[in-house]
Amino acid sequence: MIPINKPAIGEEEKNAVLRVLESLQLTDSSFEGGKFVKEFEKLFAEYVGTKHAIAVNSGTSAILAALMALDLREGCETLVPGFTFASTATTSLFLKANVKFVDIELETYSISVKDLAKKFSKNSKVVLPVHLYGHPAPLDEIIEESEKHCVFVVEDAAQSLGSKYRGKMTGGFGIMGCFSLYGTKIVTCGEGGVVTTNDDILAEKLRMIRSHGQVKGYDSKVLGLNLRMPQMEAAIGIEQLRKIDSFIKARRKNAMFYNEEFGKLKGVRLPVEKNYAETNWSIYTVYVERKRNEIVQYLRERGVGATVYYPTPLNKMDVFIKHVQLESLPNCEEAAEHVLSLPVYPTLTEEERNYVVKVFKEAIRTFL
Ligand SMILES: Cc1ncc(COP(=O)(O)O)c(C=O)c1O
Repeated sequence: MIPINKPAIGEEEKNAVLRVLESLQLTDSSFEGGKFVKEFEKLFAEYVGTKHAIAVNSGTSAILAALMALDLREGCETLVPGFTFASTATTSLFLKANVKFVDIELETYSISVKDLAKKFSKNSKVVLPVHLYGHPAPLDEIIEESEKHCVFVVEDAAQSLGSKYRGKMTGGFGIMGCFSLYGTKIVTCGEGGVVTTNDDILAEKLRMIRSHGQVKGYDSKVLGLNLRMPQMEAAIGIEQLRKIDSFIKARRKNAMFYNEEFGKLKGVRLPVEKNYAETNWSIYTVYVERKRNEIVQYLRERGVGATVYYPTPLNKMDVFIKHVQLESLPNCEEAAEHVLSLPVYPTLTEEERNYVVKVFKEAIRTFL
């Protein structure tokens, strides 16, 4: 099977893990995070172009910590696109806040600013635009609308490390940006996450939240959890981050090859890159007019790990039925029925790439 994604791990990452093991510093509960975490955070902040980067143990923890730092609580409301990974929204529920789903634009799968503008209420506190598949959401418009309503913007940048909006890295536009370093992400250390911010007070709060609210040790000042990134993961992250430009370049090359090959296929809409966007191509997603599930099955039976991100929009997901006042989100529902993603990872060989193209074209000829 050609998987949907494959981490690009080399000798550098393996040696980094050994260095941590030999140092015997596997974890560090200090406010600063320890040797490897500190170095990783420095590199990450430099890369994204923010003053601070706070490493945590997952993208979900990054979002949860960001919302906790903003004191999100019962009675507050967050605005979340209805077509994303569940934890963009479930994190608000843990804090007993209400979630309101917003529809998306079908061209980019980003939150619809038009629908967002209609959904603000006096309880709205945070909007979480998602840079889905790596394509930046329209940040200027989102920020402008949110400012009108005094609502914070927290970017869900889980999939968009290295993607740029008008030439500047995503994750540096909102009050905070939340990244994931999960195994399928563009830079991975197995599990991990990062919150970026330019705000000194929030950065300090985030460092407390990730380690039991402590500053000097055993002095919990605010409500916190254990969201710490282990040193071994930080050491892997350092090596991965050093290679990110080559990862993105290889992904772009694969994506452009697919775009070229699939350009003339009827019934298939290719991913776009708007004029304000430079995407990291973390996920290559096409829209097929009919028979999406049959096409995915055809590909998988022939060894191409086509995957659907995501088959269920949030307004149809069981976990939200009890908690969220659900209404229809036509574009989210349509996307969930028609999209599929193909392998675009950096170590994909030319032979594998050609095979994906061949099987996908066959599938389209068979079903459309
Ligand atoms: C858009 C989005 N938000 C949040 C997350 C959560 O990240 P993690 O799996 O690292 O908790 C992910 C990744 O799975 C994601 O893709």
